[in-house]
Amino acid sequence: PSTAAALPRLERVSADTKANVSPAESLIRVRDLRVSFPGRGGLASFPHGGKRAKIDVLVDVNLDLRAGETLGLVGESGSGKSTLGRCILGLFPASSGSITFRGRELTKLSEREFRPLRENMAMMFQDPIGSLSPRQNVRSLILEPLDVHRPKGFDRDAAALRLANAVSLPREMLPRYPYQLSGGQARRVGVARAIALAPDLIIADEPTAGLDVSVQGDVLNLMRDLQMAQKLTYLIISHNLPVVRHISSRLAIMYLGRIVEQGDCEAIFRRPAHPYTEALVNGIPRPDPEHRRKLTSIEGEVPSVAFRPRGCEFHARCRYAKECCREEPPHETIVSDGRTVRCHFPLAD
Ligand SMILES: Nc1ncnc2c1ncn2[C@@H]1O[C@H](COP(=O)(O)OP(=O)(O)OP(=O)(O)O)[C@@H](O)[C@H]1O
Ligand code: SF4
Ligand SMILES: [Mg+2]
Repeated sequence: PSTAAALPRLERVSADTKANVSPAESLIRVRDLRVSFPGRGGLASFPHGGKRAKIDVLVDVNLDLRAGETLGLVGESGSGKSTLGRCILGLFPASSGSITFRGRELTKLSEREFRPLRENMAMMFQDPIGSLSPRQNVRSLILEPLDVHRPKGFDRDAAALRLANAVSLPREMLPRYPYQLSGGQARRVGVARAIALAPDLIIADEPTAGLDVSVQGDVLNLMRDLQMAQKLTYLIISHNLPVVRHISSRLAIMYLGRIVEQGDCEAIFRRPAHPYTEALVNGIPRPDPEHRRKLTSIEGEVPSVAFRPRGCEFHARCRYAKECCREEPPHETIVSDGRTVRCHFPLAD
């Protein structure tokens, strides 16, 4: 039988139904986003027609962020999560596709045009201490966004105390330098910097990585309180599925730079539709020893974005792979509860 005949009939996602979020609801809307880096060397960057080959890190990414929600972005290391966050904030250029903020196209803006918009969007970077300048003390670090965007002057002492208070950093911390901070304190400095300009959107890259469990809880509670007080929208990037489940209303799962599943967080955890999501969810360690024995971890090497497999890029690791999966790349489709899935044979339907 031909490959096409072997595929189940699924609704192909049209431009307006992607992710099932209406344009009016979206704060951020990403469509068909592609991001490429020049090859770094080795075979993947072997010159083609005199040009260095490009490596596609993000491919056909569609994502919707609704005002006031928390969207968890999950995927293995190297899948492109940080690149997507940086691209939304204009810190890395899109190769093609569209990113809109409240309906305004961002990908065509010059740095000068983007700058005022950046007051509405902030990033908490992946490495809380390393991302802070080692020569600035906490006071000057948390005032920096105001110094950049409100050069006409403001009450520096009042602003420093207000921000320190908002993130529960004792005022004695203000003269300290990053190397003198604990992981949790550095995170609070990162949160203070992120909220300094009262943004609408915060992209938090691994906000709990490297923290003790109790400190993780403190940081998440702080972020949740700020979200309610300041009507923030969060895009939370994390490896930690229990953390993501705890805080997210919706979820996007990334594999090799594509979103393979996106939808309501609890629904996805209860009944994953993509085999990759199922493997991730089943891989969460559980306290119950009966369950632990049944763990199905994801086997096989993570392929590199520099050498993308043919067909469905997950096929070599997928326990449900059929013949057609090796040849035919799956489109993004909508399953019955409105989530999008990139698989020929979604599990939850
Ligand atoms: N400046 C760059 N030049 C070339 N390749 C890059 C660059 N930055 C990232 N990459 C590649 O892009 C891919 C995605 O990287 P990214 O940092 O977005 O992944 P990630 O999902 O955030 O991973 P992690 O969970 O480890 O933080 C990786 O293969 C990485 O090697
Ligand atoms: S398309 Fe095939 S190989 Fe890919 S995830 Fe679905 S079942 Fe597995
Ligand atoms: Mg990252």
